[in-house]
Amino acid sequence: MAENEGELAESTTVVVIGAGPAGLTVANLLRRSGVDCVVLERRSREHVAQRQRAGIVETRAVRMFDSWGLADRVLGGVPHDGILEFRVDGESHFVFDGDGSDGPAAQLCPQQVLVQKLTVHYLADGGDLRFEAADVSLHDLSRERPTVRYRAPDGTLHALTCAFVAGCDGEHGISRASVPAGALTAHTFDQGIGWLTVLADAPPPAHPLLAVSPQGFAAHFPRGPRSSRYYLQCPPDDHPDAWPDTRVWDALRTRLGDPALASGPITDREIFRLRSLVHDPMQYGRLFLVGDAAHIVSPMGGKGMNLALYDADVLARAVRDFVHDHDDTGLRAYSRRCLRRVWNDQEFSHWLTRTVHDAGDDTDAGPFLGHLARARLDRLFSSQAAAGAFAELMTGLDPETNSVGSRKP
Ligand code: APR
Repeated sequence: MAENEGELAESTTVVVIGAGPAGLTVANLLRRSGVDCVVLERRSREHVAQRQRAGIVETRAVRMFDSWGLADRVLGGVPHDGILEFRVDGESHFVFDGDGSDGPAAQLCPQQVLVQKLTVHYLADGGDLRFEAADVSLHDLSRERPTVRYRAPDGTLHALTCAFVAGCDGEHGISRASVPAGALTAHTFDQGIGWLTVLADAPPPAHPLLAVSPQGFAAHFPRGPRSSRYYLQCPPDDHPDAWPDTRVWDALRTRLGDPALASGPITDREIFRLRSLVHDPMQYGRLFLVGDAAHIVSPMGGKGMNLALYDADVLARAVRDFVHDHDDTGLRAYSRRCLRRVWNDQEFSHWLTRTVHDAGDDTDAGPFLGHLARARLDRLFSSQAAAGAFAELMTGLDPETNSVGSRKP
């Protein structure tokens, strides 16, 4: 791409767009692999560091970081004890969601803690991370040396030529938007369910808790020693203003079947629709889409961030193999390999979403699907095989992934 007047021309191997879990993991793994990269993040470091979203790093992802020698540097929070509580009409059922081995287990690590630690480690390792990079644009993605342009906070225009672009800029980023229309297929699904999500300085539960009740679904997850995230099923077009604190705590106490539930100051409150989105393929020329830039999954099952971590691991290994061994096998298989896991986790999240919602307030689903959902719960609580399959899906471990996640890089 011809240089523009007055812009600073630079060159690197990979330009990573976005410094969320996907981008920072790609960057740390590439640096670990001796591959040169530059990360461009449009927000400030402070903004990115405080963005609270996901809360669990699944067993597979913990072992992935461990296989790169990074687990003890980038993971925070506390180990998950492998127990998930389902509370159905106030009755507790404890389901084991670990893999029963002595290997590293899932970590209850808030997303912002992971992002902060990945940032610190990357910078300490000499990584090139540029915050407040404005007006990022992608050029010549279908050629061997794409160019990424942006404007630095001091107004300087930069042009970075590279071999690959890692599009880690989330659902509303510039990466996927730079792909010509028609090159990708978007698969979408809307569950027709809304969730009010609440963050509060209130005691976390002993175990992550999913509650099924005739009044609707509710959940209570830990987000640190004195912080909790709650979810309450609501109409998809509902508004946070319709949920004052008293209504939130009353609904939680009713649906969780816990009249003595401790409350606390609510620090965040928003409503979103449960929906899914998958773009196929996850690549265009030298652009590789990673994490939310490629796919969105409903929070049921905690797979959003973990899919981003999976994609990042697959891409980093593929780029490393190409750069050091001129082996493009991983690059050619990237999209197929990631989409296999994406659809697996989409199916799991869909199954769990339908089960815990239809088994409760079956107004929308109808009594027949309500009975099917109750039967799925009954099977989960009574069949060892069903519980084993559930645990495998929660850990993210499966024959294919085990071979990737545990293999030394
Ligand atoms: N230029 C540079 N950076 C951008 C641009 C852009 N045009 N657009 C977005 N970004 C940045 C955002 O500011 C954000 O920091 O890209 C990053 C994308 O991060 P995430 O949205 O967190 O996506 P990802 O890294 O894939 O992680 C997925 O994050 O949103 C949660 O629930 C989601 O847990 C999941 C995880």
